Amino acid sequence: MTYTRPTAVIVLAAGEGTRMKSATPKVLHMIGGRSLVHHAIAAARGVDPLHLQVVVRHDRDRVAAHIEACDPDCLIADQDEIKGTGRAVECGLAALPADLTGTVVVTYGDVPLLTSDTLRDLLRAHEASAVGVTVVTSRITDPTGYGRIVRDADGAVARIVEQKDASEAERAITEVNSGIYAFDAVLLREALAGLGTDNAQGEKYLTDVVAVAQARGRGAAAYVLADVWQTEGVNDKIQLAKLGAELNRRTVEAAMREGAIVRDPATTWIDTTVSIGRDTVIHPNTQLHGATTIGADCEIGPDTTLTDMEVGDGATVCRTQGSLSVVGPGASVGPWAYLRPGTELGADGKIGTFVETKNANIGAGSKVPHLSYVGDATIGTGTNIGAASVFVNYDGVSKHRTTVGDHCRMGSDTMYVGPLTIGDGVYSGAGSVIRHDVPAGALTLTDAPQRIVEGWVEANRPDTDSARAAAAARAADVSSADVSSADVSSADVSSADVSSADVSSADVNSADVSGASVASGRHTGDNGEEPQR
Ligand code: UD1
Ligand code: CA
Repeated sequence: MTYTRPTAVIVLAAGEGTRMKSATPKVLHMIGGRSLVHHAIAAARGVDPLHLQVVVRHDRDRVAAHIEACDPDCLIADQDEIKGTGRAVECGLAALPADLTGTVVVTYGDVPLLTSDTLRDLLRAHEASAVGVTVVTSRITDPTGYGRIVRDADGAVARIVEQKDASEAERAITEVNSGIYAFDAVLLREALAGLGTDNAQGEKYLTDVVAVAQARGRGAAAYVLADVWQTEGVNDKIQLAKLGAELNRRTVEAAMREGAIVRDPATTWIDTTVSIGRDTVIHPNTQLHGATTIGADCEIGPDTTLTDMEVGDGATVCRTQGSLSVVGPGASVGPWAYLRPGTELGADGKIGTFVETKNANIGAGSKVPHLSYVGDATIGTGTNIGAASVFVNYDGVSKHRTTVGDHCRMGSDTMYVGPLTIGDGVYSGAGSVIRHDVPAGALTLTDAPQRIVEGWVEANRPDTDSARAAAAARAADVSSADVSSADVSSADVSSADVSSADVSSADVNSADVSGASVASGRHTGDNGEEPQR
């Protein structure tokens, strides 16, 4: 059965929410990746009302700005100083066209689990019974604090009585008012105009419209909702956590119904806005936030937090924190990776262990496997970035970009000092500091000469474990009949090594560093720069 499009949904959010004990307005608190009021607005949008309006008062400008950001078409109405849910709706109606007819739905901005489906069911029930007002009710074991549904001898809804106004007998009623209703617009406006504030709280009660509808022969009905979570409001931070957990349980179940494999629903947190493809495995301790979309057949987690990420089919993302980034199909990320905004990893690429990236376009099949920082870089396809490399993008004032071509084999411990362009097919030696552009197909290396200062430790660090170990090793060497002088001279720098490194005499001279400066960590050439070749 279909239903007629409601003329308006009015979401009440003017209350102060003192029990939250928070500097943040109650309805702006978040669960499942959205504010409470955003959940309420999204549920209302789902029934496509002609007018969608939120009534505000407390922290008005902040709440209004937030609503505008969530749903720019949502109307804002201001409640005046007269208190009560009835007054809130009256103020809402005053800001809508005066000749409003049809059905007006009222919901609360602090009831986040209510679904569009339930509102549709309410509208269908309301239309089918043709009454002046239909109220969503639930039967609960502890009705304390709620308005009670008073039914007449025939079982028809006669009126709603608030806890503070209820008799002993009425307080025993366990059917309670959820605060969600469908009203005939004309009846609602007329009834509210005639209501006073003569009650225990001195407020204009929306609940009193029910008795008015009955008195005018328009009739009132209840739509009893079994799923009480959907009508539960958030009044304090304990309820915020409780409803947040329940919303998450529902979202995780929905993801599994759509085909995701969730290993541990209890430690998996998924925002309502996330989508996950079939047969993707979500491992324990994974949080998926915001506009994150995960493809099919992926492995995500464990211990992974992704916010506003796009992950392609068949990708693996393990022990990773990432935001506003793209991981291509078949790509692999982590363990222990940090993807900052603007990272785009191509198909079958790899961002490995202890790697941080930012504004980095890493092409298909390219790899940054270990211990590196890649910031403000474009890396082509099929390129390998050696371990412990840094894209040196910051000169202390500005950020600079580095481009690395396709199919490069870049050595470990390489510094890419931007701005820099490295052509296709380049190789680089380990420990290079690349300051100058490198043409396609070249080898680039920084050959800071390695020097050996024999006996330095025993001379300069006497009485240390290192010195004692060195002395012991020398004593063993001397006493060993097997050690030839050739072995000693081959200690790390053979003449073959030197000639293969093609070290010029200038380089050798510049390496003439005293033991003192080695100890102080300085090791520079004549021009203060190790030569890049
Ligand atoms: C109200 C109902 C009660 C129902 C309960 C369900 C009335 C008189 N009572 O209780 O029958 O069982 O909700 O939770 O309606 N609000 C405004 N302006 C106001 C007062 C409230 O916008 O002046 C908003 C609040 O922000 C909140 C909602 O209305 O979103 C409910 O207010 P709250 O004070 O929590 O409800 P009660 O009056 O206790
Ligand atoms: Ca309440």
